[in-house]
Amino acid sequence: MCRIAVLASGRGSNLEAIIQAWKAGELGGEIALVLSDNPKARALERAAKYKIPHQVVNPASYSNREAFDEALIEVLKEYQVELIVLAGYMRLISARVLQAFPWKIINIHPSLLPAFPGLNAQEQAWQYGVKYSGCTVHFVDEGMDTGPIIAQRVVPVLPGDTVTDLTDRILKEEHRLYPQVIRWFAEGRVILQGRKVLIKGE
Ligand code: GRF
Repeated sequence: MCRIAVLASGRGSNLEAIIQAWKAGELGGEIALVLSDNPKARALERAAKYKIPHQVVNPASYSNREAFDEALIEVLKEYQVELIVLAGYMRLISARVLQAFPWKIINIHPSLLPAFPGLNAQEQAWQYGVKYSGCTVHFVDEGMDTGPIIAQRVVPVLPGDTVTDLTDRILKEEHRLYPQVIRWFAEGRVILQGRKVLIKGE
């Protein structure tokens, strides 16, 4: 059973979708740990509700970045996690952490990368006037939303949409896509070939 850590800084609606897939027997792995950098994250409450082990590694408790990174690595190793899923985790992953878990960290981003990386991606897309946007699950590398793309889902931007409409439409797809991608990992079907990602059997 693939041991998964979900890292979240806030609301945790993606975490909730992943938990629901797990409960329905559709995840292929188990959520071994929910970890947050924010003691007030709602994601932690969700973890508690389902009795999933949860921990806070708060940067404010460490004197420098290295010490924080080491603490993060230690917790993730302690729980023997094999896949690290960023779900609204609002912090860049450092080279040190990436080296500790090579190509084991994935993220979901609310745009069709490489368009609109960074913060407020839905608003960036809406302002730009694109006709389609969506979400992307990708491997995490040292850049900001630059790692190899694993899967994408497309949604239309409709006339009259507000940013909130678009954000909600994208979020629904996020909740479908992320559990599916995690399942591919749990089944050992995700193959990285340079920048290209192959899903065996898809
Ligand atoms: C999502 O839109 C995700 O794409 C982005 O951060 C948001 C997290 O939302 N990385 P939630 O905490 O999962 O509800």
